[in-house]
Amino acid sequence: MKKVKKAVFPVAGLGTRFLPATKASPKEMMPVVDKPLIQYAVEEAVEAGISDMIFVTGRTKRSIEDHFDKAYELESELALKNKTEMLEFVRNMLPRNINCIYIRQTEALGLGHAVLCAKPVVGDEPFAVLLADDLLVGQPPVMKQMTDTYDYYRCSVVGVLDVPRAETASYGMVRSASVAERVERIEGIVEKPKPEDSPSTLGVVGRYILTPRIFHHLEKVKPGSGGEIQLTDAMASLILEEQVLAYRYVGTRFDCGSKLGYLQATVEFGRRHPEVGAAFSNYLANLE
Ligand code: G1P
Repeated sequence: MKKVKKAVFPVAGLGTRFLPATKASPKEMMPVVDKPLIQYAVEEAVEAGISDMIFVTGRTKRSIEDHFDKAYELESELALKNKTEMLEFVRNMLPRNINCIYIRQTEALGLGHAVLCAKPVVGDEPFAVLLADDLLVGQPPVMKQMTDTYDYYRCSVVGVLDVPRAETASYGMVRSASVAERVERIEGIVEKPKPEDSPSTLGVVGRYILTPRIFHHLEKVKPGSGGEIQLTDAMASLILEEQVLAYRYVGTRFDCGSKLGYLQATVEFGRRHPEVGAAFSNYLANLE
């Protein structure tokens, strides 16, 4: 029985919603308090037992590779200054058994295209996809909830949540039938429909577990919403031959692809931060 051991992180997007911050640096490197978004996503994958992290990256994204690499200068400076604790912290950012693999997507042709770029590394295995701008907090972590769901049902699983009908044009939207308490079978899925055209208010968030059969469908789909190769369209075709489940995760989502969601995440993570949480909460309580 194959376990989910590989995760794909599509990080080649342009991040236009955060210009000028994202002009020369990747949006996935934007910090929430002191940790970049991509690291939250990688840690979530680690906690789900995933060991191979596959980043589909692009030009101007080199700082992501540097972030997960050894930082010689920093380490020797810290060692020189006897900052042992900080040194250990920087050295052990990820467990030793984790492999980071980078693939360049030369053109930003869409999420589906980015996932297809990972095919040579994923091979014939089930795999996860995590979109770092969806910052999810759950206990157990949301990806762990999803790998557990995969281990039980042995088919593709997509994270979903109820969204306001007015916002359906920001999400992949599903039509589904109940299977168990948090689990639905997807009967239809469409990318970013207008509120009046959406089959439901159940929207896809950036967490997927996919069987390798998805690649076959990604190779065939034509450009869809926004002129891009959409993962949603490949899933719409996958459901015709395999069961695909929607999973209502237990947890909180911060949409860090939007300024408002990013600010909310900063406030919530700031309030809970071990070092500054108490002082920050105090500051917020005393705001007018
Ligand atoms: C992508 C997917 C969409 C999904 C969303 C979740 O859209 O295409 O189906 O609902 O992520 O965040 P994006 O937000 O990248 O436009």
